[in-house]
Amino acid sequence: MDNVAAIILAAGKGTRMKSGLVKVLHPAAGRAMIDWPLEAARATGAAPLVLVLGHQADKVQDHCRNATDISFALQDEQLGTGHAVACARQALAGFGGTVLILCGDTPLLRPETLVGLIRFHRDRNAVVTVLTAIMDDPSGYGRVVRDNGGGVVRIVEQKDAKPEELGIREINSGIYCMEADFLSKHIDALGSDNAQNEYYLTDLVSIAVQKGFSCLAMSADDATEIMGVNDRVQLAEASGILRQRINLELMLAGVTMVNPDQIYIDHGVQIAPDTVIHSNCRISGKTIIGSNCEIEGNVNIKDCLIGNGCLIKAGSVLEDAELNDHVNVGPMAHLRPGTVLRDHVKIGNFVETKKIVMGHGSKASHLTYLGDAEIGSDVNIGCGTITCNYDGVNKHRTIIGDQVFIGSDVQLVAPVTVGRNSLVAAGTTVTCDVPADSLAISRVPQVNKEGWRLRKK
Ligand code: UD1
Ligand code: CA
Repeated sequence: MDNVAAIILAAGKGTRMKSGLVKVLHPAAGRAMIDWPLEAARATGAAPLVLVLGHQADKVQDHCRNATDISFALQDEQLGTGHAVACARQALAGFGGTVLILCGDTPLLRPETLVGLIRFHRDRNAVVTVLTAIMDDPSGYGRVVRDNGGGVVRIVEQKDAKPEELGIREINSGIYCMEADFLSKHIDALGSDNAQNEYYLTDLVSIAVQKGFSCLAMSADDATEIMGVNDRVQLAEASGILRQRINLELMLAGVTMVNPDQIYIDHGVQIAPDTVIHSNCRISGKTIIGSNCEIEGNVNIKDCLIGNGCLIKAGSVLEDAELNDHVNVGPMAHLRPGTVLRDHVKIGNFVETKKIVMGHGSKASHLTYLGDAEIGSDVNIGCGTITCNYDGVNKHRTIIGDQVFIGSDVQLVAPVTVGRNSLVAAGTTVTCDVPADSLAISRVPQVNKEGWRLRKK
């Protein structure tokens, strides 16, 4: 929408979070709380986006460093929401349109609701429009006081409300549209003669009404959308709703969720149709999963790129790994950062990998550690194989050629290379390079002492 700017208030500490971290940086469904309203405001086309910061301003600013469309305004002392808006004035100097005002602690707000609010405000030539909601339990919110004709008169904070006003169920969302001229002329008229000794932005409503400006309220269709997060109980509730939305969208796009209430997928994760996800999975970060995959229960996937037709069996943990198509992993496998598995690779139970590339069709089916290794295609890694990559000071690489067969219980003491098509016999400790097409075996010859048990008795 044209000629709309936004102010997002995020200077408060969030005392009720009881946290060392400023409230708006707490994650909600994999994204800092502040990013949700910022993204909603951005989606309306509002520019500039003015973020009012105070508490841990440097941290919040650093968090937003890649967004070029944000201007920052500093509120050194948190003297109230009205004072916070006044601090944004300089960032909006010369702007003459509609100002959208939001709070940084309302992650559930949808862009469509903001667009509806701006339309409502403009269609009726209002000077101030408050987004309100009817709540069964309005406690904690400012109440919208209307006159007998239904016109908005003022907003009263809970702490300042008379007993009869406490019963009002229409609440102030803290989200407004105001004409910039009105705002700049009257923001200095706010006083702080109230229960909290703060400059309340909400008092602009009664000022507008008294001065005869058109001041309206628009009721949100969905009251949950404007829920403010003040403590960790509300954070959990809001995160749950965001996750439900994410799951719903994915299911409607063709992803099967066997028990969506117990699947935790972060904002930004992409999953293609016909992939099936079971209970207690957590999929986060920049993960992208292809189609026709099956993710069994209790799997944790973070920042992974997974192709099509992969099977991730129960209890596996995958982090910063790349899996091409038809890869099988688990149960209970641990793929650590830098793992790259080509098509048709199989990683079985209790296998840990780190910084390895494993070629097409290669297998490590049981109880193995593979770190800092380059493994060719069609390689078989026997049970109990270990790449001894660390000498106590430095990490070293293991290189294994195509079609190599590594028997069970082999230690590969890096740096070491096993040439293509070789066989390393079970129980071998490989300490020097193995040429191609050879057999490597290092075992103490077995001695059988016949009759030994009988003599003992
Ligand atoms: C505010 C409203 C209340 C409304 C509620 C909706 C006022 C006076 N009250 O109350 O009517 O129902 O939001 O959630 O506006 N902030 C600053 N600087 C300050 C104070 C606050 O930037 O000096 C920011 C906070 O970081 C927060 C937002 O403004 O993001 C709202 O502040 P908060 O203290 O949570 O206001 P409420 O008491 O919830
Ligand atoms: Ca609040």
